[in-house]
Amino acid sequence: MITNLRGRNLISDLDFTKEEVETVMEVAFDLKMRRALGQPHALLDDKVLAMLFFFSSTRTRCSFEAGMAQLGGHAAFVESKSTQISHGDTEKEIGEILGRYFDGLAIRHCDWGIGNRYLNLVASASRVPVLNMQCDFYHPHQCLADLMTIWEKKGRDLRNKKMVVSWAYAASYAKPISVPQSLILQMPRFGLDVTLAHPPEFELMPEIMEQAQEQARKNNTKFEVVHSMEDGFTDADIVYAKSWGPLVTTSDPEDIKKVTQKYESWITDEEKMTLAKEDAIYMHPLPADRNIEVTDGVIDGPHSVVFDEAENRLHAQKAVMALTMA
Ligand code: CP
Repeated sequence: MITNLRGRNLISDLDFTKEEVETVMEVAFDLKMRRALGQPHALLDDKVLAMLFFFSSTRTRCSFEAGMAQLGGHAAFVESKSTQISHGDTEKEIGEILGRYFDGLAIRHCDWGIGNRYLNLVASASRVPVLNMQCDFYHPHQCLADLMTIWEKKGRDLRNKKMVVSWAYAASYAKPISVPQSLILQMPRFGLDVTLAHPPEFELMPEIMEQAQEQARKNNTKFEVVHSMEDGFTDADIVYAKSWGPLVTTSDPEDIKKVTQKYESWITDEEKMTLAKEDAIYMHPLPADRNIEVTDGVIDGPHSVVFDEAENRLHAQKAVMALTMA
């Protein structure tokens, strides 16, 4: 078990090696059990995490905040709009100064072409770990919770199991591409054969696609792209279907709307779920556009594991914080 994660950043999914992710999983399961048994686990006594948000959140904010309290520390909620960032505080000042007040800096900044760069610039000026609460490229803590959930539902030997990471239609807003990008980077390392399904205009970043192919090659797993939701779902053991914006193709709001409207039929419904294996699980990071992106029948139905998945955010993040911030 590789345990020297103290002081490390987690910005990209590949910042931790496969063995280091396995360590995170071991600690996460241990902390989940300790919480179930009511055993105190104040591993971060007196430590304080800053949570800097440039974008709204339900699960991420609440699970990081609850997690720090359960670890004996404290989390400070900082909204960018209530800081002096818009009046001149640069990434360097945030990294240098908050890095001296806090023991870890967790940041959510999803603006396309800006977020990931921001996190890396803060990290290069910070003396404490920077944890990515979602940027424009990656959502690594969501992905760790997803892996934990897949291990719980499908076991740890995932060889020859098919996971479809599918685009789905949503009307609310152009959602970041970070979740599918994190999934295609991380899951091939753990034995899953990954199928990425999306309409042609909803491609992911070419450099991330290359890295995902490289992970699949190195770990002897399959990685393919299809342009039909039905083809993606066929014989899948794990269905992970969510919306994302056509951000790689266009940043024009009118174009985004026009392109997205073409694919209203990309909804996860009961009929499509019948194409997957009988014991397939349905995953979604939430929030979902109900009855647009996925029907109530699926998200509340027997295949759905979305609430266990959301719970595991807490345990996986506590593991990362305990390992990096102790
Ligand atoms: N899945 C997820 O990151 O949820 P929030 O946007 O509510 O944090």
